[in-house]
Amino acid sequence: MMWLLTQLLSLKTLMKIYGFCVFSLCCLLIINGVEVAAFKDHRLRSNVSQPYRTGYHFQPSKNWMNDPNGPVYYKGVYHFFYQYNPYGPLWGNMSWGHAISYDLINWLHLDIALIPNDPYDINGCFSGSITILPTGEPVIIYTGVDENLHQLQNLAFPKNSSDPLLNEWVKSSLNPILTPPDGVDPLNFRDPSTGWMGADGEWRVVIGAKINTQGSGILYKSKDFKSWVKTSSSLHFSNKTNMLECPDFYPVAVNGTNGLDTSVQGNNIRHVFKASFHDHDYYVLGKYDPKNDQYDVGVDFMDNNKESLRYDYGRFYASKSFYDNEKKRRILWSWVNEGDTNSGAVSKGWSGLQTIPRSIWLSEKGDQLVQWPVKELEELRTRKVHYGNKKLTGGSMIKISGITASQADVEITFSLSNLKNAEVLSAEVVDPQILCTQKNASMSGNFGPFGLLVLASRDLTEHTAVFFRVFRTAKSFQVLMCVDQSRSSLRPEVDKLIYGAFLALDPRYKKISLRTLIDHSIIESFGANGLACITARVYPKLAIGDEAYLYAFNNGTQSLSISSLNAWSMKKAQIVSTRKRRKPIK
Ligand code: FRU
Repeated sequence: MMWLLTQLLSLKTLMKIYGFCVFSLCCLLIINGVEVAAFKDHRLRSNVSQPYRTGYHFQPSKNWMNDPNGPVYYKGVYHFFYQYNPYGPLWGNMSWGHAISYDLINWLHLDIALIPNDPYDINGCFSGSITILPTGEPVIIYTGVDENLHQLQNLAFPKNSSDPLLNEWVKSSLNPILTPPDGVDPLNFRDPSTGWMGADGEWRVVIGAKINTQGSGILYKSKDFKSWVKTSSSLHFSNKTNMLECPDFYPVAVNGTNGLDTSVQGNNIRHVFKASFHDHDYYVLGKYDPKNDQYDVGVDFMDNNKESLRYDYGRFYASKSFYDNEKKRRILWSWVNEGDTNSGAVSKGWSGLQTIPRSIWLSEKGDQLVQWPVKELEELRTRKVHYGNKKLTGGSMIKISGITASQADVEITFSLSNLKNAEVLSAEVVDPQILCTQKNASMSGNFGPFGLLVLASRDLTEHTAVFFRVFRTAKSFQVLMCVDQSRSSLRPEVDKLIYGAFLALDPRYKKISLRTLIDHSIIESFGANGLACITARVYPKLAIGDEAYLYAFNNGTQSLSISSLNAWSMKKAQIVSTRKRRKPIK
């Protein structure tokens, strides 16, 4: 079947054809006896029986999904793999789901790439990465879990690397290529990173591990990607993390927003080490010396009780980046898990989303990373509303009508004046999440809370507030960005946490921007052009489909203005499955 597809249509053509004749593609697939799921029509309305299913976020047609695995751009095609349970909506039977795209937004689900059916991965094909070898051939390195639940590293190669769809993968006869080394907890040795090549021509990968109570990014070297030697010291370790999952290690340019290939080294770059622990994705920035494989970071994870750098201050875990050499950018994917119960997952028949892929680069100041949804997402923008220069007096709100508020992309910029009236933030280090919880959306201040009320019900009993508060500090101003889920749903059993992050406000501009992607049960927010990101999952009972509303609000005492607001309804992404039906496990 896929042979036929490959012959008939290059993926480029295929993705273009999506726009025009998905219907005929579906027919073609049905004729060939495979399941066509997920894509049924273009209507913006949400499915009444599935109000939480998204319109433009990546998800399989059913079942459980967690970590992004092995994203790569290969022969003109974006490939995305993910931790997948083919048999149900809860975690288990870990396999590698596989989908392809021409634009990172519209996807074709292919058959599962890796299934746990060998002794070295019989209890799961866990997370891993893809590296393109000097021959141009991609290789998967992933963690297998054996019958003793020990974690081992394995390789898989495409059956036919001239096929841009990389339809079939063959596990290496050398597997397992790595077993847990002495001193490492065999149950905690997983998630190999993408490889990078040093000046000596040897490959490196970093693997997450637990040594006693310490989290460690163990560094391995190899001449041929098959036979690996552990280096004498870890790339990075931390006694604050415990087990450290899904390490990612890559260079970022000191000036500019372009991404860099994972193997690039040089003077004008810094290296990011990201680790997933305590339910969040933290990163440090440092200088990597490729000769001695030394990685020096100024500040470690959670050093000196300081607020640590995180990719996202909401629900966001086990992320992975890759370098897109076509568009010269680094792209970040992340799993966004559910804030609903297991029985909620069972009744929905699915669990887990991926964020919209984000471009990621080093900030101008060089002290943190910046993220922004990939440009291609804008192709889904349709009906638009625009406001310019609108006053938002203290205690007021404006209804943003004319777009589909449950499936939207909103960009809003607030202008502030008389900032001397801002409340004072005391000098001690404050946890922004705690501050957002104490000063939630209903607590009036001077400058703030102001922002968006998202997925609001007609009577406003349900809404999620995405907002800012501006504070004066000894030397400058600080902005608190919050996502208040406390009133997001009338359902008592779903997550109602309030998230928070700090942003520095440049006093020269006195403007603060917010972009929010709203998609039924996910709200991704980007403050100050991507300096702080907060992702939330919400499960409204009333504010669903056409019954969801959107407002801009100012619940502070000081007036401010909306210098511009652009909001769009979003079309549904075309996410089509060619996956063969699988027999349930008995
Ligand atoms: C992170 C993680 C990884 C592991 C995978 C298993 O969410 O626990 O460490 O490889 O999920 O599904």
